[in-house]
Amino acid sequence: MNSLSLWKRTHMETDYSLKERNTFHFNIHAAAYSEISHPEMIREFIPQTPGEFAPILILGEGSNLLFRDDYQGHIIRSTDTSIEVISERGDDVLIRVASGVKWDDFVKFAVDNGYGGIENLSWIPGTIGACPVQNIGAYGVEVKDKIEYVEGLYLDTGEVFHLEKASCLFGYRDSIFKHELRGRVFISHVTFRLSSNPSYHLDYGVLKTRVESKGAINLSTIRESVIEIRKEKLPDPEDIGNAGSFFKNPVIPETHLSLIQQDYPEIPFYELEDGYKIPTAWLIDTAGWKGYRQADAGVHANQALVLVNYGNAEPSEILDLAENICRDIKHKFGIELEMEVTIV
Ligand code: EPU
Repeated sequence: MNSLSLWKRTHMETDYSLKERNTFHFNIHAAAYSEISHPEMIREFIPQTPGEFAPILILGEGSNLLFRDDYQGHIIRSTDTSIEVISERGDDVLIRVASGVKWDDFVKFAVDNGYGGIENLSWIPGTIGACPVQNIGAYGVEVKDKIEYVEGLYLDTGEVFHLEKASCLFGYRDSIFKHELRGRVFISHVTFRLSSNPSYHLDYGVLKTRVESKGAINLSTIRESVIEIRKEKLPDPEDIGNAGSFFKNPVIPETHLSLIQQDYPEIPFYELEDGYKIPTAWLIDTAGWKGYRQADAGVHANQALVLVNYGNAEPSEILDLAENICRDIKHKFGIELEMEVTIV
């Protein structure tokens, strides 16, 4: 028996509970669910007849998704957790990481080994396979700046792909995997370029102060500081269901900012090349939604950008709340919010 025929026996569960597989902890089910421990196993799910296995959804930790309802297709999750240093030249290191690795396990691996570049991205939930999809970012660093290339297979043909970072079309919480390749590929590996002689990104005031208070500036104290700050502000999905930032931060033109400033001179903003980025958390907070709760759906009391499920909220209750917030922000500030979370 060759190894491929062994993979043929991938176990499939039906009517599978997703309660522990989505960080909102919605009590929903998938029609079918399988785990794969090697990228080649994805070939087993190439449809032999039109519609077979459709629709397939590749799931990481379910930390940036909102399932509207039970999922009527086949969910596949990678359990491949290999991390391989593929080259080390001078300060420069290339590391190829399998998609099933938890993002923060990789950050810890990097920091423990003295490889810098992603320490500001500590404690972000999710997996390696998900990190390029929405180009995760925090405290002045985006993962796109450390990604070298992304590998995987097309779900319809099993053909292998290798996308250099320029071809991934990364943007703010955005990439080709949210558009042209959405639902069409299985990401098997992401390769990162890190440095054993890194420059630190401490332009984010809160982070700088915290790190300096630790007496030494190095990868470990930065990681520790980021974890402390995140734990203070963001609810742990283990305790309260949530998917991190629910909306993106909008970018508006100067004329629009000036209009808002007439009523709200204190509005925070960050100047970008194409306009002014406004923290949605400030908009939601100022509109009075922070800490709002109806039944088990609410807006977190410490970070207004995070919508939470206090226990038994239905997906529709969170979506209704999100719509009400959007309508109110449009009415009060003339800004259309865009969701950061992917709705399935
Ligand atoms: N603010 C409020 N009220 C609040 C929270 C924040 O008014 O309840 C204002 C403050 O003026 C604050 C500003 O909003 O200075 C920015 O807040 P924060 O530093 O918490 O960052 P954010 O813009 O709300 C973004 C990312 C987070 C990331 C942080 C830190 C997005 C959509 N979110 O949030 O990412 O951790 O910066 O870098 O870009 C995620 O994507 O899931 C996520 C958590």
